[in-house]
Amino acid sequence: MCGIVGYLGKNDAHPNIIAGLKKLEYRGYDSSGLAVLNGSLNIYKMSGKVEDLCNYLQSQSLCGQIGIGHTRWATHGEPNDINAHPHTTRRKDLALIHNGIIENYKELKEKLEAKGHSFDSETDSEVIVHLIEDIQDTYSCSLEKAVQMVSKKLEGAFAIIVISQQEPGKLVAAKRNSPLVIGVDDGEFFLASDKLAFPRRFKKAIFMEDNDIVTCKQNGDLILSDWTGKLKAPIIQELGDHIINDYEKGEYEHFMLKEIEEQPQVIKNCLQGRIDVNYLEPKLRGIYENEVKFLQASKMTIVACGTSWHAGIVGKYLIEKLAKLNVEVDYASEFRYRDPIINSSDIVVAISQSGETADTLAALKMAKEAGAFTYGVCNVEGSAISRMTDAGSYTCAGAEIGVASTKAFISQICVLGVMAIQLGLLKRKITREEAREYLQEISQLPGLIEKTLKSKGDIQKIAQKYFSASDFLYLGRGVNFPIALEGALKLKEISYIHAEGYAAAEMKHGPIALIDENMPVVVVANQESYKDKIFSSVKETKARKGKIISIVKESDTLISSESDDVIKVPNCSDFLAPFISVIPLQILSYYIALLRGCNVDQPRNLAKSVTVE
Ligand code: G6P
Repeated sequence: MCGIVGYLGKNDAHPNIIAGLKKLEYRGYDSSGLAVLNGSLNIYKMSGKVEDLCNYLQSQSLCGQIGIGHTRWATHGEPNDINAHPHTTRRKDLALIHNGIIENYKELKEKLEAKGHSFDSETDSEVIVHLIEDIQDTYSCSLEKAVQMVSKKLEGAFAIIVISQQEPGKLVAAKRNSPLVIGVDDGEFFLASDKLAFPRRFKKAIFMEDNDIVTCKQNGDLILSDWTGKLKAPIIQELGDHIINDYEKGEYEHFMLKEIEEQPQVIKNCLQGRIDVNYLEPKLRGIYENEVKFLQASKMTIVACGTSWHAGIVGKYLIEKLAKLNVEVDYASEFRYRDPIINSSDIVVAISQSGETADTLAALKMAKEAGAFTYGVCNVEGSAISRMTDAGSYTCAGAEIGVASTKAFISQICVLGVMAIQLGLLKRKITREEAREYLQEISQLPGLIEKTLKSKGDIQKIAQKYFSASDFLYLGRGVNFPIALEGALKLKEISYIHAEGYAAAEMKHGPIALIDENMPVVVVANQESYKDKIFSSVKETKARKGKIISIVKESDTLISSESDDVIKVPNCSDFLAPFISVIPLQILSYYIALLRGCNVDQPRNLAKSVTVE
């Protein structure tokens, strides 16, 4: 949460920082600010979007080749001008931005107050800048030395960038448990929470490790050390072009719709190199290079949050069916704080779009400490989770900007589908011929999704009919149960309508009490199995006057006959059913949110990357 950027180079910092912040708004967008150093330190910050800050800055003359910027998702203190970053002290010669949570800030604040420091904001972050000032005053040390000493005192998560009027021509940064990447380009430095924020010309990056401290200087020097001051050789990595192009919205009004429509291509990218032309061999490298681990495993535990957790449940159904491997799916936040039984023969899979969700990271650390073999299914290359796991598979969805996850989800279940086939084959639970059939089917997905997307207009009309409902129920069975959960989550995230996903048969144990003529019930029913059972749930709903919106196969007549509205999707096997059924649910949420006048790409209170507990 929160996006931070820092610029130092030969160009004006301000436009580079604003452009970077706009690209980081997916991390939080309740307030923003920036500080530019040009002899004196100028700080501007306010509640609202980066666009508001940008408009305000048009009336200011802002030059300076070194600066920092922040876009906030509030944790400590409401989103207002004072709590916005950068933070400074009374002397106003230091400016600091922070992403993360300082867990011991109260204790540190009390000590500083006792020494005479007074605080303006309610944030935990402000304490860091006061600590830096205090240490510099006490030890007359450099900014980098003070940052080094301060980082030892901080508990929790932080990525910070700080600049000082007393030490112009340098920018100092440090991190622990929050991401920070340094872009380097011919004497220019661009630091950011995500490489996506880099200006196009930056093609090389250094991914900072936990407890690293970096000093970037105007003369082009970069000094990297650990928190004991021991120098480290920076590892510079080349960045691909695609990370930059994904940021364009093109002809689309919203990233969400663009990302929904990109899904056929995303699946092609995800499958590339993982299925051979003869459909003989699924080839997830992380699995074939560690076959013994997978063969010996008695259990797989999937840890994830949000939409990625739903993908995990789809994975459970597919892997248990094809590979007969016991799979548990846990919310990472629950896993990390109970006493899960983890054996060294277990495989723990972390699914995460961002690869940096705090709870998923912590769950993974626990699994590693218990000796389990860890596997990452991440989208963002080089992310913390992908670096921490023993092996893994990237989902290759490209940058996902819309806060509500769509293309990342499809790519996650695509990887899990291939994983299920590969493990089934490896464990000899399916034959080569069966594997071949599954692989052929999964390869048909781009075309089938392309066809599903053609129902957009019809779904828009259904949205028109139901957009003012105050509650929705989503029902599904088997592998379409997690799709019902995902459909409900998509709707509540972006339209603020209360929605619940349920395993269809569970409806009788509570939710049925909610059903009346005002309740739309979305029934996800494009599989062959359970058809009659789903039909019974439909009848039970109708008997209570609920309105049925069904997602069914083209060939269906049974469930359609009892539905108020029908969304027909291409016929497919039960194995492919969840890949197809999720698409109309994404589209339905999109149009309902649009009709309700909601900010589809930046829903209130949410952030795409949840780096705090
Ligand atoms: C946030 C996002 C969701 C995402 C979840 C887990 O809540 O808004 O879209 O599913 O975090 O994120 P991850 O990056 O770990 O998949």
